[in-house]
Parts: sequence; structure tokens; C-alpha cells
Amino acid sequence: MKIERVFVVGGGTMGRGIASLSALSGYATVVFEAEAAARARLRQAIEGSWERAAEKGKLRPEAIAGAGARLTVAEGLATAADADLVVEAVPESLELKQRVFTDLGKLCRPSAILGSNTSSLSISEIARAAERPDRVVGIHFFNPVAVMPLVEIVRGRETSDATVEAAADFAASLGKTPIRVADAPGFATSRLGVALGLEAMRMVEEGVAGVEDIDRAMELGYGHRMGPLKTSDLVGLDVRLAIAETLSRELSGGRFAPPALLSRLVAQGKTGRKSGEGFYRWDGDSASAVDFREES
Ligand SMILES: NC(=O)c1ccc[n+]([C@@H]2O[C@H](COP(=O)([O-])OP(=O)(O)OC[C@H]3O[C@@H](n4cnc5c(N)ncnc54)[C@H](O)[C@@H]3O)[C@@H](O)[C@H]2O)c1
Repeated sequence: MKIERVFVVGGGTMGRGIASLSALSGYATVVFEAEAAARARLRQAIEGSWERAAEKGKLRPEAIAGAGARLTVAEGLATAADADLVVEAVPESLELKQRVFTDLGKLCRPSAILGSNTSSLSISEIARAAERPDRVVGIHFFNPVAVMPLVEIVRGRETSDATVEAAADFAASLGKTPIRVADAPGFATSRLGVALGLEAMRMVEEGVAGVEDIDRAMELGYGHRMGPLKTSDLVGLDVRLAIAETLSRELSGGRFAPPALLSRLVAQGKTGRKSGEGFYRWDGDSASAVDFREES
């Protein structure tokens, strides 16, 4: 399975990052964004990120010229018919993703690999829509795509070995480290990340330590780059709550039952960095911990 042509569906946070890296890495890359205004800005947004990287000395002008020539913004899905690999990065809705995969199943060559960047939905369920589940695989990048070194390759119930290996090779060719995981709830990353985050929140509720000290415990004691509460704020507490609710339904033992504090913060609109407050109060990049002990 030689991958030369890549088609990215969705030009939001993740899709544009994946398309950008794919073009920079030598693939003829087409990206389709459904919303017309966002589509019109897409090329400029990607080229702008390249220019900023060049100013910091991270990209050479020749690399930018080459990637620019390899990148196309499409007006529709039709050119996915030529692709060797499709990476879907539309919003996290099973119904929407299944609609996209139904179209891709009809349009794409039988040999094409159809990847989804979903962070929590079942690859097997998405694959059911495509009529070629052996060719459907999770290719889960992390945000920001240019920086985060991991790609989680998720094997659905019917994904073939060849598809898994081709997806892993593609991730490696972008300079990422692939890990191979089964299509279990939360895969490896969301399940472990959420488990740590929820336990940290229960510790805040119990007054075991303050927010900052719980984060420092993992940062300084275990070498984590960022503690679990700050990470939760960055991911978005609403996103964390939604994943916890799904995992709590699908995995036994109550391990993922959302702590009351998390539900309360989300109900108050305190969803973390994007709203300005969660476990920290945010001002741009700077964050000061909320003292929940004052409240109890
Ligand atoms: N943002 C993250 O941190 C992150 C990290 C890892 C994985 N993911 C996953 O990546 C996927 C995309 O997330 P995102 O953060 O980039 O979302 P986003 O909302 O920033 O981007 C999604 C884009 O898809 C477009 N779109 C919607 N329907 C479409 C269609 N039918 N065809 C083409 N484009 C369509 C939207 O207009 C939007 O621009 C989700 O499955 C998400 O769970 C997100």
C-alpha cells in the first residue's frame, strides 16, 4: 500500500494541522472544509503557520515552496476519488462521521485507506458506514499537530493488519511515533488521561491538597510536562466530562463516574481555559489556581 495522495476532510483545528504536516512531509495533499468562509481562509491560515515557523527558524523557504505546491484546498469531496489515504477530521459526532464515511465508501478507490481522527468514538461503528471496514482505521493526532509527537492507531473490529501497518507507517513518515491500540472506549490516551484527571479532581474535593500542589505532584514527582488539572483545563472541562460520562457507561466499576466538582464547574460555564476559568483562572497563557478550600 503505497501512500502518495492524501485527502483530509475538515479544515478545523486538527484537519488544517494534519493537511499542513502532510504537505510538508512530501504528500500531494488535498483538504476539504465544508464551511465556505472557513474554506476561503484555509490556505492563508496554513501558509501563515508556515511563515511563523520560518521566522522562528523551524522551516526553510524551500520547504514552504514545496509544500505550497503540494497543497490544494478542494471545493468538495470529489477528488477524494484519487486519494490513497483519507483522514477525516470533522466534529466529534458519530452520525456526522458515518455520513462522511458513507460518501467516502462510495467515492474512494477500493484500495484507499480511510482514517478517522476521532478522539473517543468507536472506529468499528464509524467503519460500518463505509462498506469496507477492513480499510477503516483510527489515526488519532494530538493538538497541536505540528508539535505533539504521538499518533494513536486504532484497530476497529474488522481493520486489516495491512491497514494498521500502512497507517502507522504514514504517521511515522510525518515524524510521529505511532502506538497501536484496540477499539476500546477512550483508546489508550483518553482513558489514561481522564483516569488521572478525575482522580486529581476527587483529591481536590477531598481537600487532599490544593490545585497547584496536585499538579506539581505529577510534574515534579513524576516528570509529567503538565499536571492533570491544568491539562483538564486546556482540553476543556466540558470535553472531559463528556468523555468521563461515555467511559463510565462503557467500562464497569464506577471508575469513570464524573466527580460532582467537575459537573458543577461545567454547569457554571467554567469549562477551563477557553472560558477563562476552571481549576485555574486564565489570562492568556498565564494561569492562577482556584482555591476550592475557601468554598467548602
Ligand atoms: N481539538 C483537539 O484538541 C482534538 C485532538 C485530537 C482529536 N480531535 C478530534 O478531531 C476531530 C476534529 O476536531 P477539531 O478540533 O479539528 O474540530 P473543529 O470544529 O475545529 O473542525 C472541524 C471542521 O470540520 C468542518 N466540517 C464539518 N462537517 C464537515 C464535512 N461534512 N465535510 C468537511 N468539513 C466538515 C467544520 O466546518 C470544521 O471547520 C474530532 O473528531 C475531534 O474529536 C480533536
